This record gives sequence, C-alpha cells and structure tokens, in this order.
Amino acid sequence: MNEFTVKPHNIHIGCDHAAVDLKNFIVALLKERGHEVIDHGVNTTDSCDYPDIAHEVCRAMEGRESTAGILLCGTGIGMSIAANRHPHIRAALCTTELHASLARRHNNANMLCMGARVTGVELARAILRTFLETDFEGGRHQRRVDKLGI
Ligand code: RB5
Repeated sequence: MNEFTVKPHNIHIGCDHAAVDLKNFIVALLKERGHEVIDHGVNTTDSCDYPDIAHEVCRAMEGRESTAGILLCGTGIGMSIAANRHPHIRAALCTTELHASLARRHNNANMLCMGARVTGVELARAILRTFLETDFEGGRHQRRVDKLGI
C-alpha cells in the first residue's frame, strides 16, 4: 500500500521548524509519485512562526480550485487555525486515516494539516494517501460546505 493512485495534484506544502523532516519526507514522496509540489519551506530548524508559512501557502492557493495544500507544524493545530482564517481554505487537522477520509468525503477539505510531534512518518504517509485518494461526496455535504462562510 505504498502507491498513490490518484492523478498528480498541484500541491502546495509548508511547515515550521518543528516539521522540517516530515515535510521533506512528504515532498520526496509526492515528487516520486509524479505530483507537482510547490515547497514553501521552511528548510531549517531555526525557530520561526507558523502563521507566516500558513498564510503564504494559503495565499498561493487562492483562486486555484484543483489545488491541495499541506501544512505541518508540531501539533498541526496552529497551522490549521491559521489556514482556516482564509475563506477559500477548508483545513483539516488529521491524526487518523478516518479523519482524512471524512475530511474529504464530508468537508471537501483542501488543506491537510498534521503534527510532526504527534504523528509518525508511516501514519502520516497513510493519512496523506487517503486524503489525496478520497473524493468529496457532494449532495447534502455540499449544502453544508456552502454554509461555512460567515
Ligand atoms: C512550535 O514550537 C509549535 O508551537 C508549533 O509547531 C505548533 O505545534 C503550533 O501549533
């Protein structure tokens, strides 16, 4: 179960200092599978502020419906809070494959957030694969997604 079966996505990815290794692992994995990856860093473990990276990645996705995003920090919490400030982003912090599946099927999530201090590399790989392979179900869920704006 190491293959991504989906067509290549255009994927924006970013992390803070707590998740550089996980980010680099995911970037390599996605490129190996033929995805186009836009890597927004960071690339060092020097302390930085997760909202700076989250906002950069979210702005880069604006107006691009078919684009997926991945944001990684220590817990995934800060990144998801920051990303969900953007009206075009539906960010889901996932710690299980079920979260990833339901985030796509019910919430049409377009941003996957994970925490490198919480989720190991192999589980992160499985969560990512599920997130990319799973389609939005639409129907009643579309109505709910349409109501997310305030
Ligand atoms: C950095 O120490 C840490 O606070 C950050 O990576 C993240 O977990 C915030 O939500």
